[in-house]
Amino acid sequence: MTTASWVTDEGGHEEFSFAAFAKSPFYQRVNASLVDLSQVRPGQRVVDLACGTGGVTKIILEKLRGARESLVIGVDLSTSALKQAREELQNAKSAMVEFVLGRAEQLSQLVNGKVDAVVFCNAIHLVPDKAQLSGEVFSTLRSGGVFAFNTSFYEGSHPPETEQWYRRWMFRSLRILRSEYGLSPVKAEKVEARQHLTVEQYTQILKERGFQIKEQRVNTVQVPLEGWVLISQFEDWIMGVMPGVPLKEASMALQKGATQVFEEMNVEFIPRNWLEVVAVRP
Ligand SMILES: C[S@@+](CC[C@H](N)C(=O)[O-])C[C@H]1O[C@@H](n2cnc3c(N)ncnc32)[C@H](O)[C@@H]1O
Repeated sequence: MTTASWVTDEGGHEEFSFAAFAKSPFYQRVNASLVDLSQVRPGQRVVDLACGTGGVTKIILEKLRGARESLVIGVDLSTSALKQAREELQNAKSAMVEFVLGRAEQLSQLVNGKVDAVVFCNAIHLVPDKAQLSGEVFSTLRSGGVFAFNTSFYEGSHPPETEQWYRRWMFRSLRILRSEYGLSPVKAEKVEARQHLTVEQYTQILKERGFQIKEQRVNTVQVPLEGWVLISQFEDWIMGVMPGVPLKEASMALQKGATQVFEEMNVEFIPRNWLEVVAVRP
């Protein structure tokens, strides 16, 4: 039998931030895979774009192994995420990490001098103008520098056999929401579905900006129940699938729904694809 814990009143979690999900081992492996592919190494200056609460920043720092001249610049548009990132990394050598508040689309104005690599985990799908973003990353990199990104929101991220899981999960969570909390999503507040680009569209945008594609691969990840339970504690995810519902009740319904459907389907994992791309500025 599969078990999971979820946020309770007494839990005392920093509620609905990305931090809990970011710490789950399967997710750290997903991002470590991209950082490996980017080949960042000691002595380099690396931007962790959309660093969130600092999970990827830590992985990059491990690769730089305290070498002189190494620097990681974490950039994010969320003040609260950066606050948590600073707390998470307070023991890291302060000379090696700095955090900057700002948008990815303005990267070249946020960073002084050129960098060796820009690592962009799980956020490129959130940026509406990807051509502008690519231009900004391009002009922030030195010649030979790499742009590495991953995303699990692209055309192909949901293996076809998992559609049944998403349908059952949402159906069950909505039923729990109604029966246990007397609530329903507000249809009028439905967030606009984000456009999922194809792999070809992503690589085309990069090539048009002058990048050369060095690596492009799909990492099929077996996401355990814990992953679905933890993502159900993240504000952006909750608001995307249950618009207009108070976060606490929506989160509880999603967590319980995931747990019940895993048990009924008698599965340990649901697969999801992560696209990984590494491009080079010639
Ligand atoms: C799903 S989290 C990913 C965090 C981290 N990169 C990781 O993979 O664990 C997405 C992050 O992107 C940030 N974000 C979204 N749009 C952004 C933008 N246009 N510029 C900078 N950060 C952005 C959000 O604030 C959030 O911290």
